Amino acid sequence: MKVKVYGNKKVSGKVKVSGSKNAALPIICASLLNKNKVVLKNVPRISDVFDIINILKYLDCKIKFKRNTLIIDSANLNYKPLLLEECQKIRASYYFVGIFLSIYNKCEILLPGGCNIGKRPIDYHLKAFSDMGYIYTIEDNVLNVRLDKELSNIDICISDKSVGASMNAILASTKFKKAKLSNLLIEPECEGLIKFLNIMGYNYTIHKDEVTIKSFINNDQKVKYRIIPDRIEAMTFTVIGLLCGKLKIKKCNPNHLLFPLNILVKNGFKVKINKNSLYVYKSVGNQINIETDTYPGFPTDLQSIFGVLASQTNDNSQIVENIFENRMQIYYDLIKSGIRCNVKDNKVDIVPGKVKSANYKSYDLRHGAAVIILSLIGDKSSFIENFEVVLRGYEDLLRKLRRIGVKIEKIK
Ligand code: EPU
Repeated sequence: MKVKVYGNKKVSGKVKVSGSKNAALPIICASLLNKNKVVLKNVPRISDVFDIINILKYLDCKIKFKRNTLIIDSANLNYKPLLLEECQKIRASYYFVGIFLSIYNKCEILLPGGCNIGKRPIDYHLKAFSDMGYIYTIEDNVLNVRLDKELSNIDICISDKSVGASMNAILASTKFKKAKLSNLLIEPECEGLIKFLNIMGYNYTIHKDEVTIKSFINNDQKVKYRIIPDRIEAMTFTVIGLLCGKLKIKKCNPNHLLFPLNILVKNGFKVKINKNSLYVYKSVGNQINIETDTYPGFPTDLQSIFGVLASQTNDNSQIVENIFENRMQIYYDLIKSGIRCNVKDNKVDIVPGKVKSANYKSYDLRHGAAVIILSLIGDKSSFIENFEVVLRGYEDLLRKLRRIGVKIEKIK
């Protein structure tokens, strides 16, 4: 899919932030643990969610998805090998491994796909499963995990900080009566998963980077849960407002965004922070020097987007990407648009300047979002190819952009 974006446009109005993709996906998988219905509110209608839902349907779950309410009935859940195309399209399909090990003690699945942002191995996940008594093989892109030794309780340490490995280990740990998991990366999305599990009857407690489970009261009641707002979407629109006009970002949680918000405020960008909303005004701030880090540090998912903001500041900026090696593409797009950037491995120095419109291609979800912002500050109009990758993670994006005054057209 190709779109045409008109540059040099002013935006104004309100944007309602959708539910978080990376919070919704593991929680939808975790719903399989409940024998009664699970009602999830604020679920974003994005392609990654539809792919997960297709997997659930294949597993004989009954699904109702109206507006943003997803009802999952897994009373007839059946074990099946997960050799589906959907598993390779998305990253979050790896959460089925944790869930299947908890329910069936085995899992056969095509290796996960997802955005091409770096090597993305799953060795920390596999090490955690091994420590829980499983063995695995990988052949022809198929991961096969099965029980080797039944353990009654576990005390395991995740190899290194990883969102995915932390949540997958937590999902697999649900079968144990007593479990301790440490060195976890408890980002807001992971905290949401733990809250959801506790609503289902588990008894997880969080202490710094550790969780422990003490007991499970199997109530199998109907469970209701609301997905947390998408912090990356909130910040994407914040940057659009800072560069192009005046926006109110509604239904977000600024507490999940303290690091990036601090950088903006400290550097003179006009942002007013309320309890559940942000007001942002077009403003030129000072340099943006950031290094991506795990939560609560600066999120890698916002690095390209802040890279575009850094091209419009009062001074030169330096940005360092420490999580995924293939997330420097936006700086080549900035160079194409007339901005001086010196890229060396995972580090870039940016000299602010005027942006000339150009033609771009979205390489991954967040790069695609950054390219839209770059197009908005261009002098004329720009074309973006492979736009569909952005729809993996941003709900109703075209409509939300048009509502605030962006002129964006699909090209046939
Ligand atoms: N890593 C390993 N081995 C592992 C797991 C991770 O070496 O077994 C490395 C990764 O290569 C990376 C680092 O550890 O260098 C962190 O990776 P992490 O596991 O935290 O990331 P992920 O689970 O693959 C999730 C999100 C990403 C987001 C990152 C970082 C989902 C489905 N994906 O990926 O989301 O960028 O955490 O916050 O939750 C996006 O939304 O655009 C996106 C890519």
